[in-house]
Amino acid sequence: MGPALCEVVDAQGVAGAEPPSSPGVAERVVRDVGPVDALAVNRTVAPARTASAARRRRRTDGKPPMSARVTVRPERVQDVAAIAAVVAAAFANHPRSDGSEPRIVERLRARGALVVSLVAEEESAIVGHVACSPVSVDGRTCGWFGLGPLSVSPAHQRRGVGRALVDEALSTLRAHGARGCVVLGNAAYYGRFGFRADPALRLPGFPEEHFLALVFGASMPSGVVAYDPSFAAAG
Ligand SMILES: CC(C)(COP(=O)(O)OP(=O)(O)OC[C@H]1O[C@@H](n2cnc3c(N)ncnc32)[C@H](O)[C@@H]1OP(=O)(O)O)[C@@H](O)C(=O)NCCC(=O)NCCS
Repeated sequence: MGPALCEVVDAQGVAGAEPPSSPGVAERVVRDVGPVDALAVNRTVAPARTASAARRRRRTDGKPPMSARVTVRPERVQDVAAIAAVVAAAFANHPRSDGSEPRIVERLRARGALVVSLVAEEESAIVGHVACSPVSVDGRTCGWFGLGPLSVSPAHQRRGVGRALVDEALSTLRAHGARGCVVLGNAAYYGRFGFRADPALRLPGFPEEHFLALVFGASMPSGVVAYDPSFAAAG
């Protein structure tokens, strides 16, 4: 069993294409796509954004809509413990999680690969988190990123927090020149953001229908995708 979202990278030969001794992933992304360096964690890359009215749509299942006081903003140094707690809580009952997701986030941060780290905050409590990190295609960094882990604390799920986090993460990537984003997840959930399975991008060992891509630019790269080694080493 591997991490629920990022189990892909537990597969032998999928992750690990970037040895830890090589130049930092984020540094090479900066070199390759320039403006993306502004995504570096702990730098203010976007103003904290209050959830839009659209995200606070009226629900029909009795659950309250997302509070107007939920904001999505980049992580701060003092958020680290709360992020770990939210990630752990979100995946605690996930049937395919081995509990490694908080360590994945920590390793990404330590390696400088956590290029987007956004929290959803409500009344000073962190209730959600999303991470993005560079991926390579056929061993080359090319301005593509992997989204995940995505975590919303159980008590706050199904209120639009996850959507707000993904929307903001994708906006942040686009605004800084990223060329596309991949995610390993449920097409029913990620399809609403425009993610689609595409045979051009492959993640060996995982079902094609769960490996999804969203191209920001004009062209879809072709090849085998590898996530940061943090995913494989996190167990
Ligand atoms: C998945 C997760 C991030 C969604 O966050 P959220 O704040 O509950 O999501 P939202 O409120 O924005 O969206 C909820 C909608 O997504 C749907 N949804 C949630 N998880 C889903 C899934 N795995 N597959 C398909 N749809 C899903 C819900 O049915 C709901 O639909 P509705 O609005 O039509 O009722 C959250 O449930 C979570 O943290 N889960 C545990 C960790 C996890 O699985 N992370 C993602 C792994 S791919």
